[in-house]
Amino acid sequence: MTTTKKEVINMKASELRKLYLDFYKEKDHKEIGSGSLIPDNDPSVLFTTAGMHPLVPYLLGEKHPLGKRLVNFQKCLRTGDIDEVGDTSHLTFFEMMGNWSLGDYFKEKSITMTNEFLLDVLKIPQDRISVSVFSGDETAPRDEESARVWKELGYHDEQIFYYGKKENWWGPAGQTGPCGPDTEIFVDIGQEKCSDDCQPSCNCGKYFEIWNNVFMEYNKDADGNYEKMAIQNVDTGVGFERVLAVMNNAASVYETELFIPIIKKIEELTGTKYEEKAYQYRIIADHMRSATFVLGDDKAVVPSNVDQGYVLRRLIRRAYRYLVQMNAPENAMCQIAEVIIAKYSDNYPELARNHDFILTQLEKEEKVFGRTLAKGLKIARKIIDNLGDAKTIAAEDVFRLYETYGFPLEFTEELAEEKGVSVDIDGFHRLFAEHQEKSRQGAAQKFKGGLADSSGDTTKLHTATHLLNAALREVLGGDIYQRGSNINPERLRFDFSFDRKLTDEELKAAENFVNKVIAEKIDVVYEEMSVKEAEEKGVVGVFGDKYGERVKVYTVGPYSKEICGGPHAKNTGDLGTFKIMKEESVAAGVRRIKAKLT
Ligand code: ALA
Repeated sequence: MTTTKKEVINMKASELRKLYLDFYKEKDHKEIGSGSLIPDNDPSVLFTTAGMHPLVPYLLGEKHPLGKRLVNFQKCLRTGDIDEVGDTSHLTFFEMMGNWSLGDYFKEKSITMTNEFLLDVLKIPQDRISVSVFSGDETAPRDEESARVWKELGYHDEQIFYYGKKENWWGPAGQTGPCGPDTEIFVDIGQEKCSDDCQPSCNCGKYFEIWNNVFMEYNKDADGNYEKMAIQNVDTGVGFERVLAVMNNAASVYETELFIPIIKKIEELTGTKYEEKAYQYRIIADHMRSATFVLGDDKAVVPSNVDQGYVLRRLIRRAYRYLVQMNAPENAMCQIAEVIIAKYSDNYPELARNHDFILTQLEKEEKVFGRTLAKGLKIARKIIDNLGDAKTIAAEDVFRLYETYGFPLEFTEELAEEKGVSVDIDGFHRLFAEHQEKSRQGAAQKFKGGLADSSGDTTKLHTATHLLNAALREVLGGDIYQRGSNINPERLRFDFSFDRKLTDEELKAAENFVNKVIAEKIDVVYEEMSVKEAEEKGVVGVFGDKYGERVKVYTVGPYSKEICGGPHAKNTGDLGTFKIMKEESVAAGVRRIKAKLT
């Protein structure tokens, strides 16, 4: 393939956002918002990894209220790519531009629109583009149709590559669900071929994969079988950061408007230069962006040792270690997060809304980890020095560094690599899994005494929690978001977003509000409705953007309407007398109330 000299172009992120959405909206696609980074109904994965993830029910045939053609930007996080971060194109958090046909158009129209956007709107020279199509296997035949369409659009045989399932099959996002063969689009960024064999499937960086059109006509079931579905969908995903890099002739996704302010901040904080330490800068910038978006999600994940919280902790700690290595001052992570929040709040207002929560959690994690980091590094060095001929750090040592000093695995791996030794990774995973199982059992035990307990007392306190939420909205104004709740048979605990201490009058007013609703003896009514209906009725709760999905709603007269799984008291008259015992701060911007029923 011949490469054209690259034009120097300059496209703003906001321009690209608009061009993409407008293009597909003009072609009858309806815009939907980004769903949460934490999938609602898929316990098999920790994070939303693609734009299709929140749309799974519709890809399986449920009717979407906005129709058969959709377009959006979706926040995504892929931990599978964490080892690649540091190169020119891989990121853990990224924004995916996506468009969908739900049983509407299929291959020909999808590819034709993609091509029109690339050539006519973005004006990428056609000879810089190559594509790959599915070569076929026992699941699905070779995708001759996609290849034919690309050829009809003017692509030469040398620009079309055929690959198998590993390269050209996408999905399901979790263990089961919709999937299918895809056709991927690459832009040659003009660097030399890494070998005679260099082609789009190669990872050398010459071919930037920017776009993927998945032809979803299969459903993978729990036994691993691929069943053909009754409908044919198209699921596309476009890497926003990558396209922006291409449009700005940037050498990597980090050298775009989205990252430059973060890079500048790191330079300012560490007194070093990006050019000298690009790898470390990229890891810090990527991980801090991911951490900021996870903390900024309304689902309020906090660093911990399990599930999403553990991924978050690893991202923060790795970024922190590199910052410490470069002598960044205390609080550097918060300063970087501020830059990210400022950059993205227009498009993702939840970041501004959760600004204080993000900073407090980063600060807290820095405090917890800062204390043990130096000690842990000393121990790690000792372990490595004492290895002798073994050359492999034993699983027990890796686990000790993890458990006692908070060192994530990749941390110890990096230290080992610096010293030319290896790590017993499988052994660590085994110990880690055993440990997680133990803490799950512990958590399940604790849970029994809390929300999962549907004894009379906790059920009443649960209803009182809803009334307290309503009371706070009434007394303090609507800008209150629930940040957490915990109930045991003695008391309720309710955390909510608010930026100052409540006055005694406000607390009394909230208490009176709840007792008034109790005195009115109102039936607690349960119903199911669509998210759209719930939003229209002003129901309180975390919605995401999944229009059409059905949710459970509990209503207490005109006072409270909340999305909730229950159980609740039958009538507010059963609750007794509501009493607030304590109001305190748990984090900047988050207050906690403890209350009881007598
Ligand atoms: N779901 C497809 C992807 O993530 C579009 O590449």
